[in-house]
Amino acid sequence: MYKIQKAEKLADKIYLMDVEAPRVARHCQPGQFIIVKMDEKGERIPLTICDFDREKGIVTIVFQTVGASTEKMAHLKAGDAFEDFVGPLGCPSELIGEDIEELKKKKLVFVAGGVGTAPVYPQVKWLHEHGIDADVIVGAKNKDLLILEKEMEAVAGNLYITTDDGSYVRKGMGTDVLKDLVNNQGKKYDRCIAIGPLIMMKFVCLLTKELGIPTIVSMNPIMVDGTGMCGACRLQVGDEIKFACVDGPEFDGHLVDFDQAMKRQQMYKTEEGRAMLKLQE
Ligand code: FES
Repeated sequence: MYKIQKAEKLADKIYLMDVEAPRVARHCQPGQFIIVKMDEKGERIPLTICDFDREKGIVTIVFQTVGASTEKMAHLKAGDAFEDFVGPLGCPSELIGEDIEELKKKKLVFVAGGVGTAPVYPQVKWLHEHGIDADVIVGAKNKDLLILEKEMEAVAGNLYITTDDGSYVRKGMGTDVLKDLVNNQGKKYDRCIAIGPLIMMKFVCLLTKELGIPTIVSMNPIMVDGTGMCGACRLQVGDEIKFACVDGPEFDGHLVDFDQAMKRQQMYKTEEGRAMLKLQE
């Protein structure tokens, strides 16, 4: 069993948990994910790793309630435990494998949307620990849905916050901030890493294509079982078919067919849709 050390509500429908999982904590890297199961009959839920403490053997997960299982998970408290906590799974962020000295010469910008701020955080933290301060744009629907602001502030080179409704800092989307930084403030970026809802990543990619900034996206949002079995995360990347949970979750955002991914995500929300997709495979 994997004991929950801390359970905290970060925002409406968004929860953080520190889980005792020493083996996962020892081996995981930013960008990877884990699969939790609440009990023997529970659904397998893939969740990205938000933080980890190798010494204490703690892995921090952040999740948004999207259905019955995550809803049930939100009721777990400190002292409760998961039946299963499997990982680390998926490939680490491509930044992790790169030459640090080369990375130091690059200007990086992250665009995080909503709960996508959670998987962005360990990457920015890792860079910071290696002497690289990236610019980070965090977008949320409103002030109440903004998460990990203080944590991000501590590790980002510059943190730019924006809210869709203007209830905090500035009004607009992450793409508006990026456009402003590049077009009006003379910022130049060698790479962009965007993580958030599919629609957000799609628009970041359209913009960065225009601006000529290579862009990595994380296709976590389309995963269902995280095992390569359900087919939910099947994805067109250029002329190749990939599975986000096995081949990713990171991909070249300029090659991802977001419209197709969004259609599949919609289909997977219903039983009938899932059955239809199975027939097509
Ligand atoms: Fe099911 Fe990838 S999430 S196959």
